[in-house]
Amino acid sequence: MSEFSIIRASEADAADLGVIGPAAYAAAYHDDWDDAVGFFHQLKSFGEDAFLATLARPEARVWIARQDGVGIGFLTMFVGSLEPINSREGGAEIPRIYLLPGARRGGTGKKLLEAAEAQAKAEGASYVWLDVMEHAEWAIAAYERWGFTDIGGNMFSGGLRPGRSRAMRVMVKELK
Ligand SMILES: CC(C)(COP(=O)(O)OP(=O)(O)OC[C@H]1O[C@@H](n2cnc3c(N)ncnc32)[C@H](O)[C@@H]1OP(=O)(O)O)[C@@H](O)C(=O)NCCC(=O)NCCS
Repeated sequence: MSEFSIIRASEADAADLGVIGPAAYAAAYHDDWDDAVGFFHQLKSFGEDAFLATLARPEARVWIARQDGVGIGFLTMFVGSLEPINSREGGAEIPRIYLLPGARRGGTGKKLLEAAEAQAKAEGASYVWLDVMEHAEWAIAAYERWGFTDIGGNMFSGGLRPGRSRAMRVMVKELK
């Protein structure tokens, strides 16, 4: 994979984020959905307008990974968000971290996380947290590799394919 860069995203990146968001989500999780309408709404939550709304939130910090001038992945973070198991103070949530398929396993995810951790620390957070679908073993493997620990279970709020588990794991990483 050729060189990529990690850039703090602004409104100017929303169009690219709105392309890679739905594509990266669909590539990884399309099989969770058999209801096209529900899937559409989920994909829309990764679209350009959704990113503009996220970027406008005062607690939101967003990074985009770029390669050859185009977006290949992104990470969103909300500072001041408490993990849902113990409601512990000092948290920053990483609700979304997604790479296009060709960008996976090249260290891009880790670089996005490092940018978010540095920012979270600079803003006084003592830990970052996220939740992940229990069946997404590739993502859980990455988070464990990056130093996250499982602290409990959660449930996905959307309506997935019948029979598909909505179980999620909540994972925390201490910021040293
Ligand atoms: C999960 C994700 C963000 C990880 O980022 P990444 O840049 O691919 O991760 P890294 O290159 O740092 O890999 C770290 C480790 O994660 C694990 N890992 C990553 N992808 C994996 C896969 N497909 N299968 C098994 N393990 C995987 C491996 O242990 C890997 O280390 P290794 O390559 O030395 O074996 C990325 O794969 C992705 O965007 N996946 C699709 C979308 C997604 O599921 N996002 C998470 C939503 S909660």
